[in-house]
Amino acid sequence: MLPPGPPIPPLLQTLRWSFRPLAFMQGCRERYGDAFSVKFLGFETPMILISDPAAIKALYSERSHGMPSGRNLTLEPIMGPRSLLLLEGADHLAHRKLMLPPFHGERMRSYEPVVAEILAAEIESWPLGEEFAIHPRMQAVTLEVILHVVFGVTGGARLQRLRELLGRLLSDTASTGVMLSALLSRRFGGRGPWARFQRLIDQVDEQLYAEVAERRADPELEERDDILSALIQARFEDGERMTDSDLRDQLITLLLAGHETTATALAWSFDLLLRHPEQLGRLRDSLEAEEDEYLRATITESLRLRPVVPVAGRRLATELEVAGHTLPPGTDVAPAIWLTHTRADAYPEPFAFRPERFLEEGPDTYAWIPFGGGIRRCLGAAFAEFEMRIALREILTRCELQKADPRPEKVGRRNITLSPRDGTRVVLTARPPAHEHDLVAA
Ligand code: HEM
Repeated sequence: MLPPGPPIPPLLQTLRWSFRPLAFMQGCRERYGDAFSVKFLGFETPMILISDPAAIKALYSERSHGMPSGRNLTLEPIMGPRSLLLLEGADHLAHRKLMLPPFHGERMRSYEPVVAEILAAEIESWPLGEEFAIHPRMQAVTLEVILHVVFGVTGGARLQRLRELLGRLLSDTASTGVMLSALLSRRFGGRGPWARFQRLIDQVDEQLYAEVAERRADPELEERDDILSALIQARFEDGERMTDSDLRDQLITLLLAGHETTATALAWSFDLLLRHPEQLGRLRDSLEAEEDEYLRATITESLRLRPVVPVAGRRLATELEVAGHTLPPGTDVAPAIWLTHTRADAYPEPFAFRPERFLEEGPDTYAWIPFGGGIRRCLGAAFAEFEMRIALREILTRCELQKADPRPEKVGRRNITLSPRDGTRVVLTARPPAHEHDLVAA
């Protein structure tokens, strides 16, 4: 027997999940506890949401579980069949092994100057004394970072063309209306929204294949430090390299998985920080002292309280015990990330924004899961946190910001993310003189 769930039709559950996701989940937790079934429109079987770290550990530790249902349907037409997000089994593991090294450790540090430069240019474009939404500004930053650091496109007509085409692709894929009409009209072939969307993908692909061909021929390929150049040179265990279409699918995957998510996480960090002057002051003091413990704790705490992705599920390959129920193979099970992050037994005062809670000790692996877990854990997690550290540091040392509306941002849905509904509107009240690093460099 599956755990119980709200006795309302799938349409109503889908609407509540779409428009009031936190209230919907909180209501289910109060009524049903650590595990409950939800039924969403378009899915034949229920999804079991869980929030007990022990059950989440059991779920994520079993490597044989598959992808949750529905992922292929929505992602494959855009990301392509070789996307890391869609591969399974040995093929998935082989790709992860090949793709992980450029996202780790020392490599990251070499990207710092270019990310800081992108932020400096972005900040210069902000109007003084006028209200603006910071979420779209963070999207512009994360797109630019991906173009430079991941794709390694640094200038000229191709950068301009890709910026424009990918901007359109990102806004189309973020719009439920555009995606729904595109997917529904797919069966009508040459006409309508699907055909328009397909033409855009073809144009993007043309640019990406041209970039891959030029990069393969670059005599200085070995010296380059962007991620595409690393992927071109990397070999699978059998000695083979990725094909052009494999590379194309991974580039689009990295763009779509890394752009909106990181921009949204930053927009939430500003919503939280600008409403908590004591924590903001402490963060500013620590940045002035060139320390990053408080900065890291702030990012951990924002991702806890406002996780960007609400669920990261699996389709069971073997039985799973949760909250007294034995779930059979084939069941879709997903950790409800926000519910897990707001458990009073894991986090005292769970709804308070207190970065201090992470100063002494980092979070528990299965009670802090903004990046999912196990063999499908976010490939770009370290990269996202690195980019967030630089963005918060550059913005808070170069800008005095205030929230335009002092109330907390409401949670809205954008594509698969939980996003600040009004984009976190802010006012730039002052641009203090360039900070010490710039003075030294000057
Ligand atoms: C704050 C920002 C981000 C958040 C919250 C986030 C969250 C997630 C989550 C929840 C998953 C699914 C994990 C699972 O199924 O267990 C995931 C997967 C993934 N993410 Fe991220 N992500 C972020 C940034 C990035 C960035 C910057 C990149 C790359 C540039 C990236 C690339 C990926 C990829 C390739 C996967 C698929 C991994 C696999 O299936 O093996 N993500 N991410």
